[in-house]
Amino acid sequence: MDFSRLFFPLLVFFLLALLYVNGAYEDNVPFEQNYAMLWGQENIKVLDQSREVQLTLDQHSGSGFESWHQYGSGWFNMRVKLPKKDTTAVITTFYLQSDDGPTRDEIDFEFLGGNMEHPYILHTNIFTNGQGGREQGIHLWFDPTADFHDYTLLWNQKQLVFFVDNIPIRVFKNTTQKGGKFPTQAMKILATIWSGTWASHGVPANWNDAPFEANYIGFRVNACQVPSNQQCDSSMFWWNAHKFWDLNSRQKRALNNVRTQFLLYDYCTKSFHNPECQN
Ligand SMILES: *[C@@H]1O[C@H](CO)[C@@H](O)[C@H](O)[C@H]1NC(C)=O
Repeated sequence: MDFSRLFFPLLVFFLLALLYVNGAYEDNVPFEQNYAMLWGQENIKVLDQSREVQLTLDQHSGSGFESWHQYGSGWFNMRVKLPKKDTTAVITTFYLQSDDGPTRDEIDFEFLGGNMEHPYILHTNIFTNGQGGREQGIHLWFDPTADFHDYTLLWNQKQLVFFVDNIPIRVFKNTTQKGGKFPTQAMKILATIWSGTWASHGVPANWNDAPFEANYIGFRVNACQVPSNQQCDSSMFWWNAHKFWDLNSRQKRALNNVRTQFLLYDYCTKSFHNPECQN
């Protein structure tokens, strides 16, 4: 056998393998590249050479971080491991928000803590021009405190899709032509942990179980930065491509499964006439 003839194909193979391995870790850019601490500095730990951040809530303070920049469309992903123990009234978040104020746009993943009897609720909401009231809640099909899971928002000019581990759990279509609302303002990416009793029917946090710790990884941002030369609805951005204007049939089935098995509440069940709910 002539091994010299194998040399080039093997070299190509190893180079491709190397590329693949690098690609697999590409979401692991350092925290500081895209994000900065926002509040509760003493309760933020930057770990693993800035590949991981831990946000803590204790009786004195919560904490949070935010992106340096604002974005106008994109594929927003974060890997999150939620706080353990009795997390009643503990709220862990990953969300987009325009400049805070009475006319803000906002797109929320909010993890409402619980305990043995009441598992975590993944609460999602959308604000347009300061108006929210678009709550939806589901139970998760895994223990979100045991490991990291992917929580992702797709935002383009046609739809907003919330994903958990790449499974769509919620779709909000752009229905402005039928009279619905849709976020239009550039937004920052934020992540926080805080205590709010709105989520626990007034029951306060169980401070005996504090500190509550949420871990985040995956600080790459695939999104259209604002301001920039590029229009954020440009087809130059992969998340704006035609195939992301709608879920495919496999994703639609997956979404239906989630709704059938895990949906707890949905504002649309009370707003049939709202054009946003007619999809
Ligand atoms: C929503 O869709 C309309 C067309 O139906 C489009 O003109 C508008 O720019 C879209 N909104 C956003 C924020 O992309």
